[in-house]
Amino acid sequence: MFHLYMDCDLLIHSAAQLVTCASPSSKRGAAMREVGALANAAIAVSDGQIVALGPSDDIRAVCHAKHSIDASGKTVLPGFIDPHTHLVYAGDRVAEWEMKLRGVPYLDILAAGGGIVSTMRATRAAGVAGLVAQAKPRLDTMFRNGVTTCEIKTGYGLSLAAELAMLQASEQLAQTHPCDILLTLLAAHTTPPEFKSDPGGYVDLVVERIIPQAALWFEHEAKSNHAGPLACDVFCENHAFDVAQSQRILRAGKTHGMTPKIHVDQFTSLGGVKMALELGAVSCDHLEVTTPEDRARLAQSNTVAVVLPAVTFHLGSQQFANACAMIDDGCALALSTDLNPGSAPCLSPSLVMAIACRYQKLSPAEALNACTINAAHALGIGHRVGSLEIGKQADILIVAAPDYRHLAYQFGNNLVERVIKNGREY
Ligand code: NIG
Ligand code: FE
Repeated sequence: MFHLYMDCDLLIHSAAQLVTCASPSSKRGAAMREVGALANAAIAVSDGQIVALGPSDDIRAVCHAKHSIDASGKTVLPGFIDPHTHLVYAGDRVAEWEMKLRGVPYLDILAAGGGIVSTMRATRAAGVAGLVAQAKPRLDTMFRNGVTTCEIKTGYGLSLAAELAMLQASEQLAQTHPCDILLTLLAAHTTPPEFKSDPGGYVDLVVERIIPQAALWFEHEAKSNHAGPLACDVFCENHAFDVAQSQRILRAGKTHGMTPKIHVDQFTSLGGVKMALELGAVSCDHLEVTTPEDRARLAQSNTVAVVLPAVTFHLGSQQFANACAMIDDGCALALSTDLNPGSAPCLSPSLVMAIACRYQKLSPAEALNACTINAAHALGIGHRVGSLEIGKQADILIVAAPDYRHLAYQFGNNLVERVIKNGREY
């Protein structure tokens, strides 16, 4: 029952379409094809929370708003959640990318000082202030592209001091930017050059020093921990960390209160999915070469499958994660940019949706749920964000098109016209 009359801070009314993506838990199977679209709808916000939504005439009749937005001809939808980014880094890899286009093999690029280690060098040299200065414009662009919550990983420091500097830079962004930010320690991204002849020694350093220190720092200095706990990630792959090392690292993280997650099955299926599921990982990410058996394991779990089609696109490969089979099997599927300088210099969830629809054959509805409600569950915060539901955080996008499918149908432009974050308009 509506109250006769209700005050609210903001009323967005007359939307051609309002898409809720509402769900009590992560979406699976047929639910992925439902977006909860209402025609000629309105949504009301008070104190940063959604307080009412429904047919525009009904809501307008009961809500007295301090401020109103006429969304005629537009689509209103939940803010995008980007659950996997390497947003903080210094420099770029544009020269390396051009070499790859000319067919120079990956190992030659590595030998020439390219790859993750080249970004590590630039990142170590930048310092906290330099990292913030370089990352802030990227975060601004992501926000304008509709990302209202994003995860940021370390992983280009690869020493105790430089990994902590990356956490500090991310924390400064979290303190100063309207976008909600969740932090992930990815000290085990690759072995740094100083441990080249002793990779096991680097794993020891991560487990014995970097993880405990990062946990202490988070406990005592990270003021933004209201957005979610610190997570621990590892790149489980040939030439990175094997399953036993990955397990040791994620276990150590868990001991220190960090949520486990994993870069897994990007090029090689080593068995990391099974291991990560046994540890209760919040998400398994990449999954380009995941086996049907591991897909079935994922489907049986609460772990979200995060796929990253912008990586396959950027690498000019055909090896997309089998996202349709994941949905058919019953996995909770999410999409993410994987924004990073090496494999996905991509700041746009809509472009990720566009790629996923064309090459992974997702429907626009599946792609949207994968960028909103399921992406929120991939960060363990689906109870608070990721859908338009009464009581949830008022993170709302107004899109310059009358139907949500335009977000994936059009590409190369940004249809997000306005971003409402915690009820505030940007
Ligand atoms: O998610 N796969 C490992 N890490 C990143 C790439 C990092 C880089 O090349 O700088 C990824 O694809
Ligand atoms: Fe990544």
